[in-house]
This record gives sequence, C-alpha cells and structure tokens, in this order.
Amino acid sequence: MEFRTIIEPFRIHSVEPIRITTAAERESALRAAGFNLFALRGEDVLIDLLTESGTGAMNSEQWAGIQRGDESYAGSPSWFRFRDAVQDLFGFAHVIPTHQGRAAEKILFSVLGGAGKAIPNNTHFDTTRANVEFSGAEAIDLPVAEARIPASEHPFKGNMDVAALEALLAERAGDVPVVFVTVTNNSGGGQPVSLENLHAVRAVCERFGKRLFLDGCRFAENAWFIREREPGQEGRPIPDIVREMASLADGMTMSAKKDGLANIGGWLALDDDALAEQARTLLILTEGFPTYGGLAGRDLEAIAQGLREVVDEDYLRYRIGSTAYLGDALHAAGVPLVRPSGGHAVYLDARALLPHVPPAELPGQALACALYETGGIRGCEIGTVMFGEHALMDLVRLAIPRRTYTQSHIDYVIEVVRAVAERADQLRGMRIVTEPAALRHFTATFAPL
Ligand code: F0G
Repeated sequence: MEFRTIIEPFRIHSVEPIRITTAAERESALRAAGFNLFALRGEDVLIDLLTESGTGAMNSEQWAGIQRGDESYAGSPSWFRFRDAVQDLFGFAHVIPTHQGRAAEKILFSVLGGAGKAIPNNTHFDTTRANVEFSGAEAIDLPVAEARIPASEHPFKGNMDVAALEALLAERAGDVPVVFVTVTNNSGGGQPVSLENLHAVRAVCERFGKRLFLDGCRFAENAWFIREREPGQEGRPIPDIVREMASLADGMTMSAKKDGLANIGGWLALDDDALAEQARTLLILTEGFPTYGGLAGRDLEAIAQGLREVVDEDYLRYRIGSTAYLGDALHAAGVPLVRPSGGHAVYLDARALLPHVPPAELPGQALACALYETGGIRGCEIGTVMFGEHALMDLVRLAIPRRTYTQSHIDYVIEVVRAVAERADQLRGMRIVTEPAALRHFTATFAPL
C-alpha cells in the first residue's frame, strides 16, 4: 500500500450504540462490582477490551449463512459446510464440533488426562490449565526464556522451549499423553510461534512417540506473523502456512470465538480414530450429536464462512496492523508493555508501570480498575489474580474485538492509557476480599489498599 493510514477493510452495516458514562457513575459501578471488572454490566463499559473472544462483528456473508442454517438434528448441510471448511484448512480426519473451546479441552483431557499425567504447553490458557488440572493431571508451561521478558523484541516469543520439552520427556515420557502448543500464545502476550519451532517440537514428539496438538484459537494471526517475520515465508499464502502448521500436529482444540470470526463455537479435530471415537462418546453426553455438537446449524454456517474470511490478507493486514497501532503508540509514549505487540491484544506491564505495588498487592488489578474509572475502558488482568503463584508477569490485556472498533476508538484508548500512566505513582494496590476455589479471577471481590 502506498498510504500509511490503516483503513478498516469494511464499511459499517449496522451500528450498536455505546453509552458515555460519567466518572462518578463508573466509580459507583466499580464499587458495586467488588472491583471485579467481570462483574460490571456491559452497558456501563464504553470500550470493552475485556476479551476479543466471541465479541467481534460478523460479515454480511456470515449473516447470510445464519439465514441458511439448517437445523436438522443429524446430517445437516450446515454441518457438512462446517466440516469441509475446517478440513480444508487443517486437514484432520475427524472434526468434532463443540459449543466453545473449553468444551473441546474438557473432552480431550477427560480421555487423555488423569492423575499422574503431565501436559506440557508453551503456556496453558486459564481454561486449558483448569481442564488439565480438573482431570487430575499436571499442566506444565514451557515457554522460551524471552517470553518472560516483557521488553524483549524477539519475533517469536510464543515459541516453546524445545530443550525443556526434551528434558521433561527424557524424565517422564510415560506420564505425557500429549504435547500442546498454543498459537498464538495468549497468556504470554499474544505472541506467535514460528514454523521452525513447531518443526523442532514435532521432531522431539516423534522421537518420544508423543502426540502433538495445537490450541489453534488464533491460528490465522499466528500464520500472518510467520509470513511477516520468519525467513523464507514472506508473501506465502496464509492458508498454505496454516496447512503446514496443522500438518505438524495430530490434532487441535479450537475456539471459533477467536479466529473463527464467530460469536460462539469450537471444535476438537484429530487424526486418531480410536481417540476420536472416545471423544465422540463424551460429546454426546455433554454437547450433542456429532454433526452439531454444542451448536445450532446457523452457528456452524457462521463459522464455516468465518474461516474463509479470517485467512484473507486484507483482513489480517488490518487486524495485526491495528493492534500494533495501539501498542506502538503506547510504547512511543513510554508506557511499559509486552513487546512486540501481540496479534489480538496489547498487554500493559503493570509490574513495570507500578513498581511501588508488589505482585502480592495485585498491580494488574489496580491498573485495570484505574483504566475503567478514568475512561470506561474494560481490560483484563492476566497475572497474580488469574494465575496465583504461577504468574510470570502482572499484565493488563487490552484485547481488540475483531472488526468492531474503529481507529478513533483506539485513539481514545491511547489517550486514556496515557493519562493513567502519567499518574501511575498515585495508584494503590488491592487485596482480595472473597474468592472461589478455582478460576478466581471471574468472581473474586477486591478492595483498594
Ligand atoms: N485456548 C486459548 C488460547 C484461549 O485464549 C481460550 C479462550 C480458550 C482456549 C478457551 O476457549 O473461551 O471458547 O472456551 N480465551 C478467551 C480470552 C476467553 O479472553 O482469551 P473458549
């Protein structure tokens, strides 16, 4: 492109009003929510960057698909369109539709997990870790060393530490039923995994006779980074890169709420016939018949179409470019954040921004609350609240819903974050008032110190 302005490669077709709130309204909403942003009402949020999962806008072709949705209990044409779209990109023999990603995880780890087992991953996302642990198995994170250094500009900070994987398998091969790689690495900053790293992980898995699965939530964003950053991959068609990524794996779990460009959905896909059989049996117990899983026919159509749109180059250039626009502006303003910018989100480094607030006083939660109070922006703590003692960093993720906010919304976000950063030394830490036994970030309540 000759011009530098990032333009959204779409026009707006219908609009959703968002409500401007006052600082006093936000303060009282936050107090009523126990300082947990998950407990806010959506209408009290101006720019909602809590997650980009299922919060994106669908294209007119996806809405057309919603109309075409066929709700036959078994063998719906919508199912075949969905299955073909998944197989076209990933090539796995079995596709098992689920209502979202964690349902696929639950089924897979019910079969493969259990006491004494260990599941390595570059970094488990919270639901993945929770599903592994719920089965009785141990979830082990093996990110490369650069992943722990927010300021490092390494191009593939999502990579798995291959030597650490090898050491783990040398010691406990019998305990490991599957190796996982999450593309992109969400908990580690939305950072990509290189093809070279996937090949190296695959080689180790083969040596030890282990299955390799992808957590493929953001496969298209990962493929775009490979095309932009990996030597020899420049200009390669995105579907080609995706197929190569998938060819290195024996299966995948997927949340279609991310790179499926849909508001709901997911799948488990794999080559192993016997494992697929066991998974389908569990699917019927908790999700539904194997040709719809946990989804309506119309949802299957939206995903099938979304998979075509998400590998479009104009879309991905805009998508990754607009996330980098936010990250680069904050970086230039001196706001500490995970570098380089991730694909779906920008991660503010709360430990660096609030050095006077130790991790035990929840700097990420304090920063997330300040962003809401100051400008009505809802982000998500990814740190000590979410991971407890497993937290490597205290981050606030500003996740960008797909095709939803315009550049002026993002300019507003930049202004608000800069204003909060300028008075960061005045922010106080927080303490937990109440917390549940697991996944505490969703329902815990907090108080400022
Ligand atoms: N794996 C990764 C890497 C994820 O980011 C998520 C969800 C899941 C699995 C589970 O998928 O939500 O469809 O059940 N991440 C969302 C987020 C919730 O905000 O990052 P799901």
